[in-house]
Amino acid sequence: MTPIAEGLLRRIQDGHARAGVVGLGYVGLPLAVEFARHGMTCTGIDVDARKVAAISRGESYIPDVPSADVRELLDTGRLSATADFGVVAQLDTINICVPTPLRKTKDPDMSYIVSAVEAIAVNLHPGMLVVLESTTYPGTTEEVVQPLLESTGLKAGVDFFLAFSPERVDPGNAAFNTRNVPKVVGGTTPEGAALACALYGKAIETVIPVSSPRVAEMVKLLENTFRAVNIGLVNEIALMCDKLGINVWEVVDAAKTKPFGFMPFYPGPGLGGHCIPIDPFYLSWKARQYGFEPRFIELAGHINGAMPHATVDKIADALNVQKKALNGARILVAGIAYKRDINDMRESPSLDVMGLLHQQGARVYYADPHVPKLEARAWLGGYDLESLTLDSATAAGVDCVAILTEHSAFDYDAIVASAPLIVDTRNAIKETHPHVFKLGAPQPAHAETWLPGGAADGQAA
Ligand SMILES: NC(=O)c1ccc[n+]([C@@H]2O[C@H](COP(=O)([O-])OP(=O)(O)OC[C@H]3O[C@@H](n4cnc5c(N)ncnc54)[C@H](O)[C@@H]3O)[C@@H](O)[C@H]2O)c1
Repeated sequence: MTPIAEGLLRRIQDGHARAGVVGLGYVGLPLAVEFARHGMTCTGIDVDARKVAAISRGESYIPDVPSADVRELLDTGRLSATADFGVVAQLDTINICVPTPLRKTKDPDMSYIVSAVEAIAVNLHPGMLVVLESTTYPGTTEEVVQPLLESTGLKAGVDFFLAFSPERVDPGNAAFNTRNVPKVVGGTTPEGAALACALYGKAIETVIPVSSPRVAEMVKLLENTFRAVNIGLVNEIALMCDKLGINVWEVVDAAKTKPFGFMPFYPGPGLGGHCIPIDPFYLSWKARQYGFEPRFIELAGHINGAMPHATVDKIADALNVQKKALNGARILVAGIAYKRDINDMRESPSLDVMGLLHQQGARVYYADPHVPKLEARAWLGGYDLESLTLDSATAAGVDCVAILTEHSAFDYDAIVASAPLIVDTRNAIKETHPHVFKLGAPQPAHAETWLPGGAADGQAA
C-alpha cells in the first residue's frame, strides 16, 4: 500500500476518518446513521434544504430511521447535515447515494451523479476515498465518475481512491437493514477496494469484495433483473391462470413447498419502486451499445407494464358480473404506495391503474394510511386527492374496492363485510367470497347471484 492509502486506512480503522454521505434519501440517510452509530463522524450532504433542516432538527423523514436515533447522534456530534459541498474539504471518505432515474426514452439519467461528482471535485483532496452507491449501468464508476474527479489533476488510485458498492436496502423490511445486508465492493484499484471494504467494515456486518467496480455494478443489475424477470414470469402465469380458471395464488403456495429449485414470486397490479422497474433498463441500454439485444428484460418489461391494464380489465369484468359499468362507477383504490407498509409511491402501479380507471369514466378515490395526499401531477386523473379512511362506511359507499397494496393497517374483515365488490390483486383476502374477485383466479362461486348485504339473489338480504 502507498503511504497515502496507508494513512487513510489507519484513520478508518481507528475511527478518526471523517465520513460524508451525499444524498440523504432512502439509501443515504440510513447509511449515514449507521456510520455515525458505529463511532464515525458523518456529515450528510443534500441539495434539498428541507431534508437538511429536518435532520438538523433531529427529525427523520425515512420510516426505517427513527427520529430518536437521529437526535441521539446529533447530540453526540457524530451526525450532521448540510447543503454546502464546501464541507468535502474536511472529509476523508464520501459515499454517493443520489438518484439514477430513467429518461422517458429509457436512457439512464446520469445528471444527479454528474452534478454530485462535479460538486465533490471542487474540494477533492489527496488521500480521499470516493464510493458510488447509486444503482447504474456497468462502467459508470470508471467512465463517468473517474474522469470527472481526475479533471482536478488528481489521479485515481494514486492521489485518491475510488470504488463502487451497490446499495441493497429494502425499505420497510423488518429483518434486513443497512447493517445486516452484505455489502459488495469493487475498487478501481486494489487499494481502493481495500479502503472501501475497511470503511464498510466499520458499520456493516459482512463485506464482499469483487474484482472491479464493473462487477459490483453488474451484481446489482443481475439482482434486480432477476426480480423483474421472475415477477414478469409469475404475472404471465397469473394471466394464464385467469384464462384457464385456475387460482395462481394456490399454485404458487403449493409450488413453494418444494424445498429446492423454486423461489416464490407473486403477481400484482404491476411493478413499482425506484429500482426493479427501472434498473434492468440501464443494463439493456448498455448492452445495446455493444450490439447485444437483451430479450428477457424487454419481455418482462412488457408483461409487467401491461399489468395495470389487466387490473382495470379485472375490475371492469367484476363490475359487469354485478350488472354495472366501469363508466360512472365509484372505485376506491386501497393502497397507492408501491408496496406494503411503506409511504414510497415512486413508479407505483396504483397510479397507472387510477389513471386508466379515470380515463374510462370511473370516479376514483383512494385510501392509504401511509400517503395522506396525492397531488394532481402525480397521477393521470389530474386533480388533487386526499386519502379516505377505509372503514366500513367508506367501503359500503363505493361500487368496488380495488386492493392494490396490501397494507397491514387495512381491516380486511370490515372491507369484506361492507364493500359490495372487491378486486384483490394481492391475495390480501385469503378466504373465498362471492364478491371478492382475485387477479389470476377464476370468478368466485355464486358471484352472479350475490347481493350487497351478503345474501344471494332470491334470498332475504
Ligand atoms: N430506495 C431504495 O429502495 C433503493 C434500494 C437500492 C438502491 N437504490 C439506489 O440508490 C440511489 C438513491 O436512491 P434513494 O431511494 O435513496 O433516492 P432518494 O430520492 O430517496 O434520495 C436521493 C437524495 O439525493 C439528493 N440529491 C439529488 N441530487 C443531489 C446532488 N447533486 N447532491 C446532493 N444530494 C442530491 C436528493 O435531494 C435526495 O434527498 C438510486 O440510485 C437508487 O436506484 C435505492
